Amino acid sequence: MASPDNLVLENITLCAGQTRVLNQVSLTVPLEGITLLSGRNGAGKSTVLRACLDLVRPEKGQILIDGLPPGMACERIGYMPQGLSDAALMIPAISHVMAAMDGARWGVPVRFGQRKREAERLLALTGALSFSKRPLGHLSGGERQRVCLAQALAGQPGLLLLDEPLAALDHDAQQQIVALLVSLTQTLGVSILMTSHETAALEGKVTRVLALENGELHVRI
Ligand SMILES: Nc1ncnc2c1ncn2[C@@H]1O[C@H](COP(=O)(O)OP(=O)(O)OP(=O)(O)O)[C@@H](O)[C@H]1O
Ligand SMILES: [Mg+2]
Repeated sequence: MASPDNLVLENITLCAGQTRVLNQVSLTVPLEGITLLSGRNGAGKSTVLRACLDLVRPEKGQILIDGLPPGMACERIGYMPQGLSDAALMIPAISHVMAAMDGARWGVPVRFGQRKREAERLLALTGALSFSKRPLGHLSGGERQRVCLAQALAGQPGLLLLDEPLAALDHDAQQQIVALLVSLTQTLGVSILMTSHETAALEGKVTRVLALENGELHVRI
């Protein structure tokens, strides 16, 4: 699917519970390459990503992704949430990827064999095929991140929203995942909007940084 060119925030006020994470923010962000959404713990990074998926609605203003509201743009978006539910830990890796293929992006129901082959292709792409039959709860953090990345790629999205894809990884695993993300932008042409506290691992790899602090959002190249 074509990668969205830009994310537009029009006078957005966005809250998570009692916390105002965006306070009347207006900003246009080009999306090509890798955009890092940075900010301290609790700044509201996950909430902003969730708002881009229509999982949480702003109090005021609107978000547009290539001119479309999140509810209409989300079929072009793949999402890796921060952390997994306990239930997700029980199911095999390949089922986790296949589960993402039943959604709206596929339009018509897809046969089991076709879904399985596509899931295996995505798991191979992210280096996770060898542990595809094991439950997510039995995988290491790095192995699990690769499976979740494969799931986010289901349906050939043009934009990936990745919430802390480098969390809990050792130095080598971080380097491998960053190299994989860079290669996805280059080979598949996907755009990535991601959060991470691992700025050292991303140095020289990101196209721009979006800094979120005290309800304000600024673009830093
Ligand atoms: N559903 C909720 N109800 C109430 N408060 C919430 C909810 N979700 C998030 N918050 C609060 O909103 C603030 C922003 O949370 P968010 O998870 O977006 O931060 P974050 O920048 O992603 O943090 P981290 O770096 O720790 O992942 C935090 O203070 C959090 O406690
Ligand atoms: Mg978060």
